[in-house]
Amino acid sequence: MISPPPLSPSPAAIVRGLNKSFGDGASRLHVLKDVDLEVRRGDITMLIGPSGCGKTTLISIIAGTLKPDPATVQLTVFDQDLQKLSTAAITRFRATNIGFIFQAFNLIPTLNLAENVSVPLLIQGVSARVAEKKAREVLAQVGLGDRAKSRPNQLSGGQQQRVAIARALVHEPRLIICDEPTAALDAKNGQVVMELFESVARSPDRAVLIVTHDNRIFPHANRIASMDDGRIVEVHDIDSTHPLPDNLRHGFHQ
Ligand SMILES: Nc1ncnc2c1ncn2[C@@H]1O[C@H](COP(=O)(O)OP(=O)(O)O)[C@@H](O)[C@H]1O
Ligand SMILES: [Mg+2]
Repeated sequence: MISPPPLSPSPAAIVRGLNKSFGDGASRLHVLKDVDLEVRRGDITMLIGPSGCGKTTLISIIAGTLKPDPATVQLTVFDQDLQKLSTAAITRFRATNIGFIFQAFNLIPTLNLAENVSVPLLIQGVSARVAEKKAREVLAQVGLGDRAKSRPNQLSGGQQQRVAIARALVHEPRLIICDEPTAALDAKNGQVVMELFESVARSPDRAVLIVTHDNRIFPHANRIASMDDGRIVEVHDIDSTHPLPDNLRHGFHQ
């Protein structure tokens, strides 16, 4: 008897016919125009494109922090239709499933690093003692194990970015979304961070979505989607038979 082929897992995120506008009437700005994108499990997907083309808006909608226009065909994250969830349900969904690294880091200045990194675990109801222990482990993974008691303003930009990355990883979310994560990092720490993202994406149930213009990290991508003026204009799947295209290998120019 022939057994049926295994069901292929659904993508981590499916976006179809996604539209987003800001403002009303004459000042209405149509920022995302019928965007289609699949973020596959087990992949590192990178999103590139010139400043202002809509990258941050798109990843914020996938993360559930921004609502798409009602005229959107599909917005599914781990099989959950985000358009059907209430604001409170989206907040709960995000707390367990999404780790978001903001362009501006968004660390809490009055908390030390271990406390900052503990926040997603505390939101989930983990005890402060257990959360702090886990936070220290992840801080060590990003090379800041000896700075747990420091405050954000005692760190360089690159160090603050690594704290933001630790905070996005600490609760082991299934989808890590980052807005230009390596921009402030030197080559060595950029490599450390990409290895962490690769270890996340090696897990068949998890995925990483990165907005970047840092061509040093393009070789880590499984898929690179290029945006321009609110649209996805090109998608490259990269594997052993499809190497990084020359125009990306030689850098991306804004
Ligand atoms: N909250 C907002 N209100 C009005 N316009 C916005 C808002 N957020 C973004 N925009 C506009 O949407 C466009 C895309 O912005 P963004 O997604 O931040 O681009 P990118 O991340 O690619 O630089 C820009 O023209 C920006 O000014
Ligand atoms: Mg942006």
